[in-house]
Amino acid sequence: MSEDPYRWDERVEAWEEVASSAAFLAIRDRVVELAAPRADDLAVDLGAGTGLLSLAIAPRVRKLTAVDISERMLERLDDAAVADGIHNIDLLGADLRRLPLEDESATLVVSNYAFHHLDDSSKELALAETRRILRPGGRLVICDMMFSLSLEPRDRRLVAEKVVALLKRGPAGVVRILRNAVRVLTGRWEQPATPQTWERMLAARGFKDVRIELLEQEAAVAVATRPELIASAGRERDVRATSSGG
Ligand SMILES: C[S@@+](CC[C@H](N)C(=O)[O-])C[C@H]1O[C@@H](n2cnc3c(N)ncnc32)[C@H](O)[C@@H]1O
Repeated sequence: MSEDPYRWDERVEAWEEVASSAAFLAIRDRVVELAAPRADDLAVDLGAGTGLLSLAIAPRVRKLTAVDISERMLERLDDAAVADGIHNIDLLGADLRRLPLEDESATLVVSNYAFHHLDDSSKELALAETRRILRPGGRLVICDMMFSLSLEPRDRRLVAEKVVALLKRGPAGVVRILRNAVRVLTGRWEQPATPQTWERMLAARGFKDVRIELLEQEAAVAVATRPELIASAGRERDVRATSSGG
């Protein structure tokens, strides 16, 4: 298994609490709605964690592969699947940047709140891997925090809302603000990309029908498809959304 600088193995219980909040259940419902799982889908959940998406999607598809760098997250997901009587989830301990999955082995790739733990070049690697494992016509639905610490109105509003929410928690909130400020200043903060960066990264990887939907607070969902293949001069090639037809 690859190294895990964020020590996710130690954060299973804390994350499970976050993932069971009303906000995350609403995110899950919207991602599942956009993914529109089908009975013949071969689905992959990238950074599956304790299974927020996997457990909702697996009962509606042929098979789901839950990928995560943390073995303890996957163990917890497995326990929950057994408890729910779900038997079509494969657990895969792996790094999103190097997916040990066959080319074109998936028809649907989903992800929630995992990509902001990768820097932008790692996100691009993971998206290239996503495209490689998706069959032509396959769908991608990725939810993540999508914003940056900029002076853009949406970014300013999101940061201000976070600061106010933390201040309302009293001294503990002030400590969190200071701790986050230190993490930002020392480059150890999470690395969300903006909706515009997501659009650009997906288009650059050759996805089509790229669309970003803003959700509550900092969350947003990227939806895209891997283009279908067309026959061209005796061999198949991808139809690129950006191609001029040649
Ligand atoms: C914030 S949790 C989200 C979990 C789950 N998707 C959910 O919505 O509840 C992020 C997950 O991404 C996983 N993760 C982070 N970096 C990863 C990487 N490079 N490769 C694979 N998994 C990774 C972590 O182990 C963790 O389980």
